Amino acid sequence: MTSRLITLWDSLQSCPFPDSALRALVAGLPPDSVLALGPDQPDGSGMTAELQLDRLPANAPRHPRRRAQYGMGRHLARTALETLGVEPGDLGAHPDGGCAWPPRIVGSITHTRGVAAAWVGPDSGLRGLGIDAERHKPLSPAAQQHVLTPAEIDADDLPPALRFSAKEAIYKCLAPLGVAPLRFQDVSVGVEEGSLRFEPTPDCQWKAEMPTLAGVCLTTDAHVLTCVWARTPEPAA
Ligand SMILES: CC(C)(COP(=O)(O)OP(=O)(O)OC[C@H]1O[C@@H](n2cnc3c(N)ncnc32)[C@H](O)[C@@H]1OP(=O)(O)O)[C@@H](O)C(=O)NCCC(=O)NCCS
Repeated sequence: MTSRLITLWDSLQSCPFPDSALRALVAGLPPDSVLALGPDQPDGSGMTAELQLDRLPANAPRHPRRRAQYGMGRHLARTALETLGVEPGDLGAHPDGGCAWPPRIVGSITHTRGVAAAWVGPDSGLRGLGIDAERHKPLSPAAQQHVLTPAEIDADDLPPALRFSAKEAIYKCLAPLGVAPLRFQDVSVGVEEGSLRFEPTPDCQWKAEMPTLAGVCLTTDAHVLTCVWARTPEPAA
């Protein structure tokens, strides 16, 4: 089955991503996966009405804005899992901060001002998923030195937020698999026709993972959205 998209904004006008661009992004995702997107705060619409922030687990964040983001992420995750026909269960949190997905499911959550997203899929053929949404904001020279490789700084061909977001998505995809250390300087990120390209740097200790990684991205004037997945390697012939 093809990948599917759910948006929880009341109208297309409220969604910060153009519908056609979102559909192109989702067409590039692994088959059977479901991407659910919505506002990062309950907007009072019917789509977010069933979100009950007072029913979140005791260890959910306390700060009201962050608590609402946590709630929206879990709400979108439940919606996406139900679309897959999977019972969501508790969707608690692991000690490392990642969401505890149901058995045989891989998934990822993100939230930033204006956008929350959850992306889930069956683990057949997939070892992990990572999604990240960011708002465009200038990175200080020091932050650029930290996040971008020298090759990326020299190329200066993509918004720094896009490369930052792709590396956050890589982390969410690979860290739960025990891949470590994962460092911003390990990989240079490029984009070709909406697909992410990854080039390991000489000190990268997870070069063997690189051929299994794929990704897609979407940028608007305000936001960037990246999705990265790790495929199960084909058995050697
Ligand atoms: C964990 C991290 C990726 C979170 O990203 P963020 O941009 O701060 O926040 P986002 O809103 O996009 O994502 C938050 C969600 O990530 C998920 N998450 C948190 N820790 C995670 C982990 N260790 N593994 C997978 N997912 C994780 C959670 O679901 C969380 O949402 P929730 O608390 O509501 O459940 C970030 O804090 C981090 O550690 N970045 C380092 C990235 C890095 O070193 N990259 C180099 C690799 S090339």
